[in-house]
Amino acid sequence: MFIKRVVPRIIRNSRNEKTIQIELTTYEGKFIASAPSGKSTGKHEVPSYNSKGIGRSRVLLKAFCKRITGKNYLLKKIDDLKKLRSAIGKFEARFGRMGGNVTYTLDAVFLKAAAADKNKELWEFINDEVNNGLKPKMPMPVGNCIGGGLHSKLTRGKRPDFQEFLLIPKEASFSKAVTKNFHAYLYAKGLLKAQKRGDEGAWRTDKTNEEVLDILKKVGKKYGVRIGMDIAASTFYDKGYYLYKNKNLIRDKVDQADYMERLAKKFGVFYMEDGMQEEDFGGFRETLSAARKGALVVGDDLTTTNLARVRRAVAGKSINAMIIKPNQIGSMIEVKKVVEFCKRHKIKMIFSHRSGETMDNALADFAVGFGAHFIKCGIYGRERLIKLKRVMDIEKGLNK
Ligand code: PGA
Ligand code: ZN
Repeated sequence: MFIKRVVPRIIRNSRNEKTIQIELTTYEGKFIASAPSGKSTGKHEVPSYNSKGIGRSRVLLKAFCKRITGKNYLLKKIDDLKKLRSAIGKFEARFGRMGGNVTYTLDAVFLKAAAADKNKELWEFINDEVNNGLKPKMPMPVGNCIGGGLHSKLTRGKRPDFQEFLLIPKEASFSKAVTKNFHAYLYAKGLLKAQKRGDEGAWRTDKTNEEVLDILKKVGKKYGVRIGMDIAASTFYDKGYYLYKNKNLIRDKVDQADYMERLAKKFGVFYMEDGMQEEDFGGFRETLSAARKGALVVGDDLTTTNLARVRRAVAGKSINAMIIKPNQIGSMIEVKKVVEFCKRHKIKMIFSHRSGETMDNALADFAVGFGAHFIKCGIYGRERLIKLKRVMDIEKGLNK
């Protein structure tokens, strides 16, 4: 794969924040990838940019792109990204870190070009390696229906403390599941009397966690859709206490674990992400041991797509499912290692977008290619729909 040209740019994401886009030209054509960005980022994620900010990252990336222009990269499989990694490593050691969002985008655009070089779709390129070319199973969507926490502005001075209230259909096809989620999302709007959307297109409300779960349960029942929540507990945790603002109360570690258990039981919650703060492996373990059979206890800020943390969480029986966000770790080789580990240990994988998204749909190819059980990429909004549509198109192609 001959690198004819590499152009880094700064573009805007769905929250109108700056992010990195890279355009790579090879003899096969032009390829574009860009990085999403999180708002409730885990402490153990790699830093997104250079410590001096995205501007410095871009300057460094520009210099790096110059260095790799005119070079040849043999990229037959994901692990061949090692050569690019080693060039990045040497460069960063001399000039400073570019950040996980930048290194992820470099990996992603190289993989897109490598797939085209082999005359394959991106998902196929990945699938052939990790699933030996077997026809992949389609993931089910995890859709953010109602927002709270850092993802939502206040409505009449309030918002739910939990970050995301989710809908998770189980259908024979991905496209049916997407349609179901969309109808359920519109139904939820009526029950909530919601007017506005927050991050990820989720409805804004001033209701409490329980009031929202009550509505979500009704929605789930009407449409036959499972329900879930991303508590993002670290975002309202401080020095030993969970600070609930909507009802103005605090909970310690024991109360929090108990509260999670009660909510799961009362509302029949199928999916519970980051119910405890990001260092509390023991608290996750309690939630998992209390969970009903088949329910998912999901790590995100706990695990940050970092193999060492995933190993710890799995060895300690803290999770039975985890979020995979490639830019949390900034390397597709690392993502592959985490996927292989999850497969070996039967941990359910949820490939996930970030709350600040771009029009890149690579996440859909990653989810299908790596054999994810779920893809979490919202229900509404162009940055979300482009990913859902991509999975639907892959599914259509497979069923031809
Ligand atoms: P983020 O949140 O993209 O703002 O980090 C998403 C999540 O916590 O799942
Ligand atoms: Zn999360």
